[in-house]
Amino acid sequence: MNALREILLQYYILLRWCILLIGVVNLEAQRKPEGFLNVSSKCLGNIMRVDVGPLGGNLLDIAAVINNSTILLTPSLASQCGFSVRMDQLGNTMIYASLQNCFAEYVEDKAFTTTLHLRLHGNRMAEDELYQVSKTCHYTTWASREIVCDRNYIEVSVERQGKVTPGQYVLPEHPVQGSNPRPAAKKQLIDGGFRIATLVFFTPEEKPMTVAVAQRNGYGIGTTPTRLTVRSPKNAPETYTQDVAGVPMTVLKTSTIFEKKWLTTQIDAAAACPALAGSVFITQNTIRWFLPRHIETLISYGPFKLLEVHMGVDGQRLDPAEMAARQYSLFVGDRHIVVEIPVGAVGGYFKSHVQDDQYLMAYTIEPMLELLWTEGSTHKNTHYKVLHPITTQLLSSPPQVIDNTVLEERAFKLLIGPFGSDVAVMNISLPYEVLSVEDCNVRGFNVLEHKSPNSNLKAFTVEVPFTDHAVLQTTEMGVKVYSLHMALGLVVLPEFAPFSHTAFVEAKLVDKVPSVSGGCDHQNFNVLVKYETHGLNFYTMVGKQILTPDMAQQYSLMENGTHFSFAVPFSDPAVEFEAVEESSIRSRLIVVLKNPETNTNIQEFSVACHFPSTLAECFPNGTMTALAVKLESVPSLNPSQLTLRDPTCGPSYSDDRYAYFVFTGRSCGTTRKFLSNVMLYENEISLPDKVRKELKTDEPDFGLQVSCYYDTNKPHAVAFQSRPRRSDPYAKNARGEMKVAIRLAVDESYSVFYRVDDYPVAMYLQQPLYFEVELLTRSRNSKLSLELENCWATLDEDRTSQPRWNLIINGCVNPVDPHRVILHPVWPDARVQNPSHFKRFQVKMFAFVEDQDNSSRQFFVHCDVAICDTTNHLGEACKQTCSNQEKAIKGQRRDISDVHSFKHVSSGRILV
Ligand SMILES: *[C@@H]1O[C@H](CO)[C@@H](O)[C@H](O)[C@H]1NC(C)=O
Ligand SMILES: *[C@@H]1O[C@H](CO)[C@@H](O)[C@H](O)[C@H]1NC(C)=O
Ligand SMILES: *[C@@H]1O[C@H](CO)[C@@H](O)[C@H](O)[C@H]1NC(C)=O
Ligand SMILES: *[C@@H]1O[C@H](CO)[C@@H](O)[C@H](O)[C@H]1NC(C)=O
Ligand SMILES: *[C@@H]1O[C@H](CO)[C@@H](O)[C@H](O)[C@H]1NC(C)=O
Repeated sequence: MNALREILLQYYILLRWCILLIGVVNLEAQRKPEGFLNVSSKCLGNIMRVDVGPLGGNLLDIAAVINNSTILLTPSLASQCGFSVRMDQLGNTMIYASLQNCFAEYVEDKAFTTTLHLRLHGNRMAEDELYQVSKTCHYTTWASREIVCDRNYIEVSVERQGKVTPGQYVLPEHPVQGSNPRPAAKKQLIDGGFRIATLVFFTPEEKPMTVAVAQRNGYGIGTTPTRLTVRSPKNAPETYTQDVAGVPMTVLKTSTIFEKKWLTTQIDAAAACPALAGSVFITQNTIRWFLPRHIETLISYGPFKLLEVHMGVDGQRLDPAEMAARQYSLFVGDRHIVVEIPVGAVGGYFKSHVQDDQYLMAYTIEPMLELLWTEGSTHKNTHYKVLHPITTQLLSSPPQVIDNTVLEERAFKLLIGPFGSDVAVMNISLPYEVLSVEDCNVRGFNVLEHKSPNSNLKAFTVEVPFTDHAVLQTTEMGVKVYSLHMALGLVVLPEFAPFSHTAFVEAKLVDKVPSVSGGCDHQNFNVLVKYETHGLNFYTMVGKQILTPDMAQQYSLMENGTHFSFAVPFSDPAVEFEAVEESSIRSRLIVVLKNPETNTNIQEFSVACHFPSTLAECFPNGTMTALAVKLESVPSLNPSQLTLRDPTCGPSYSDDRYAYFVFTGRSCGTTRKFLSNVMLYENEISLPDKVRKELKTDEPDFGLQVSCYYDTNKPHAVAFQSRPRRSDPYAKNARGEMKVAIRLAVDESYSVFYRVDDYPVAMYLQQPLYFEVELLTRSRNSKLSLELENCWATLDEDRTSQPRWNLIINGCVNPVDPHRVILHPVWPDARVQNPSHFKRFQVKMFAFVEDQDNSSRQFFVHCDVAICDTTNHLGEACKQTCSNQEKAIKGQRRDISDVHSFKHVSSGRILV
């Protein structure tokens, strides 16, 4: 039903905003109202109301008290005597009583006292509970006629005045038609001396009845000093239905005959009440109730004048402001007085129903209209009051699950509703278990009930942390997906009718990973870290050190809530020197963001820059200076041990990263060469042989050459280069970050190798030589692979010298070599962690030595290697097999774009 949906929607919106403001109701408190009834009473004009709190499934007996005896109110006695009872969806009970009910004690028609006994009993109670309510209501504004239409009776109270005539009762010819009004002046009060003889009903046929018979038939007749009250059940046979302005009305029309000795008099009393059906129209979102403005049946004395119209609910009049607040409206038209109430408005309530596990609600409200009118010039006025209960048909309103999950809080937050206020949660079913509400709260689900501030609806909230084992976790393309399937077990109170509502929710969590970027200016690395305030927690490593507050200060760290930046000088200890070039140093800074819980890397950032640096200077007076810096590739180097060619010339200053040398053209083994226009002074910084021999390390040797070119007039031009050592088996790489080594294994197991010191290695003819080529990289980057491009042997150390024997050509075994190279696969072991960084091959010696004269019984093996990026699948060159079907090393002629870099490597001297 759209109307309801709309209200529910408004309710949701409201609930969303008010959720923290709404009182949270303890589920327990609602379930057990045993103990005390909360009884209060109220005077509402010519009626009174007794409110009794929820009965909690118990039964209530209501008895009237008179002359110290109690009389149980049965439904028929209630309608005869002016009582009615209603109960709402939660068992709250309201007892209405006419002030002039049969059991009221009155004082001068001004004060009316009604006393009731209430007895609460039921299976859930050990003992019956008794309550007494006694209420005195003062009502002095009696109109000539007071009509009360309650749900079960029609009551009319008129002044006890009549025209007294002598003689016996004779039926009037045209009773109470108003066509022949008699002058009021002749009327007089019918005092206590008169007694009621007969009651005449007009149905509309005249139907006389003695008082005793009338009372036996369920009618109520009562007198007070000044008034006569006649009451009829709504469905009594002596009433009739009449259509008034299109509205069916139940009409009670009577004449009461009084007699005193030989005097008689009669009092006419008529009332008309709208039938419960036929006067209410329920459209999509509105209840409309039509009451005829001018009820002709009741007008006897001339022109009608409507003086007042009031609206109320549950017998209580409301002021216009309150009506507006509740969105009620009242229209007084020519023919009808129309009351409009939105479905779901305050003042009514929803009662829940379960049909086939389907949740339905009906809305009930009891509006009231009060009219005051006068007729003609008689000053006769009528006060007309209707209490009109309205209940809609069952409205289908499937509860909704609103997912209020806030990802940062790592918990599902569900709002489920709306439900009528008569619904309670019993349990929650999860995939493998059913939990009571208490269990749920112990587990942190925080099941709460929220009441809407101005409707009778409620909703439940449940919070389930993503970490709870009821939450299913999967990963979809790197995104964590949390899902929760649950069913709320609910009941409708007080009858405990069970039903359930399922909820399936899913949340996708992309951890907001911080990012690092940066670059260099001429002296600093500038690093910018971007992070989310509620993102992943992390700490920062700069080089090998954690970024502490002290360091942050040193690096002038600046932060603004989403970013921080800092500057690391290129000479900072956290920076690694990768290579020394002519007038610059290439340095690398590595910044890693780590997860403090797992210590795993979240982000790695590495940047290398060339910083201009004067590493060597030549002065006109012949002094030369040189600065040697420790490179990343030689971690165990101690710079203080470096010397010039003359091992006695150590650094004049050194620390763990630098060595600074001062020398002259004539000292420390500096050599001098005369070239065409210049004189070249050269020296070299390295570890003295003695120290180097003691170092058992795989690291490449450190060697720096210092050159000064002196023009005839002005000294000039400095070159500062790394330089390979001649007997070194390692190829030097000017850039320093990746090196390739070739080594000779003792046997086919490739487990023991000849060391640098073992060269020249002596071998016998025909003895196989086992070579291994390795990519030396500290990064263990498994994405790189080493491929042999060309391998050959020469007699001279110079790799370009002739003669030359080709072993591997363009990645393939030389097919014309009669003693072909045998390739050995590489398996991982303790030493070989990444087989793609290795290649092994076997060569027989005589293949090339045999054809030479005996004068040169030494040779060298050289290889050109390619370092391929295996993740680059675009170029297949690094993966192709040899086209001539020969067993081959992967790869053929390689496209330069596939190749990360090319390296050269040469073996040491091998003697035959
Ligand atoms: C209550 O008692 C009074 C006098 O004691 C009597 O007049 C009256 O009829 C009694 N009412 C009922 C309902 O018994
Ligand atoms: C009711 O009983 C009380 C005492 O039990 C007595 O004082 C009172 O007069 C009685 N009332 C009537 C109307 O009988
Ligand atoms: C859960 O509550 C429902 C009420 O809706 C009830 O029918 C069901 O039996 C309960 N289940 C358990 C295991 O208590
Ligand atoms: C924080 O600094 C970064 C980088 O300078 C800038 O992009 C961002 O807008 C700044 N944020 C605030 C809130 O100032
Ligand atoms: C040579 O010149 C440099 C720079 O002017 C100076 O520092 C150094 O002491 C001089 N050396 C000699 C031996 O005079």
